Amino acid sequence: MSSSNPNKPKLIQNGKRISGRSFTDLRPLKITAGVLKQADGSAMIEWGKNRIIAAVYGPHEVFPKFLTDNRKALVSARYVMAPFSSLEDHGRSGPNRRSIEISKVAKHVFENVILTNKFPKTIIDIHMDVVQSDGGTRIAAITAASVALADAGIPMKDLVAGVAVGKVDGELVVDLDKLEDNHGESDGAVIISPRSGEVLLFQMEGLLTPDEVKRTVRLASDAALKVREVQVAALKERYAQVASEQGEQLL
Ligand code: CDP
Repeated sequence: MSSSNPNKPKLIQNGKRISGRSFTDLRPLKITAGVLKQADGSAMIEWGKNRIIAAVYGPHEVFPKFLTDNRKALVSARYVMAPFSSLEDHGRSGPNRRSIEISKVAKHVFENVILTNKFPKTIIDIHMDVVQSDGGTRIAAITAASVALADAGIPMKDLVAGVAVGKVDGELVVDLDKLEDNHGESDGAVIISPRSGEVLLFQMEGLLTPDEVKRTVRLASDAALKVREVQVAALKERYAQVASEQGEQLL
C-alpha cells in the first residue's frame, strides 16, 4: 500500500478497476476440499492468482504435555509463504515477522469458532501454505483453513469467510488484487462469521473515515456470503466423493 509512489498506475478507469471488475466483484474463486490424503482435513483455494493449501491435523495429544489444557483443545495456526510464491524475493522458506503475525491472527479467529471445549487435553494444528500469492493471502488462507477444519469433522460455530476491502483511487473496492493492494490508499482484511454477522478479524493499513469503516464492514459482510457459497459447495462435493468411495468399498 503506497499512495505517494510516483509510479503508481491508474487503478480505476471509466468506473472500472484495472482488471475490468466492478467495485464489488470478486476475483474467480474455487475451493477444493480433501486434497491431501494424510491430513485429517484439507482444502486448496484458488482465488485470483492465489493458490493456498490448508491442512488440519487433530485433535491430537499435546506435546510437550505441560502445555495441555484440561478444559479445552489448544489451537495452533501456521501461515507460510513458499519462497517461490511470488516474483518478490522471499529468501529462504520459514517464518518471518509478517507470517508470525498472520499465524497469530488466524489462531485467534479459529479459537473463537472451534468448539474447543469438546476436545479437552488435545491440540488442533492448522497449516496454511501459500504456493502462489496475489494479494489477500491472509483472507484466502483463513477461508481455506475453515473448509479444511470442516473436512476434518471439527465442530465449529460457523464456517468463517472473508475478503479484503480497500480504498483505491478514492473508491472502496472489494477483493483487492496485488496491484491494488500495493498501490491503493488503504487495505483492510475482514473475516466474518456469516451466521452471526460477527467480525472476527479486522486489520487495516492506511486511513479511512468512520463512515468508510462502516461501509467496509458492510461490503465485507456481503462478499463473505458469496465466499461462503463456494465453501459450502466444496464441502458438498467432498461429502459426495467420500460417500461414493465408501459405497464402492461396500460392494
Ligand atoms: O496477502 P495479504 O494481502 O494478506 O498480505 P499483505 O502483507 O498485505 O501483502 C500483499 C501481497 O503482497 C501478498 O498477497 C503478496 O502477493 C505480496 N507479498 C509478497 O509477495 N511477499 C511478501 N513478503 C509480502 C507480501
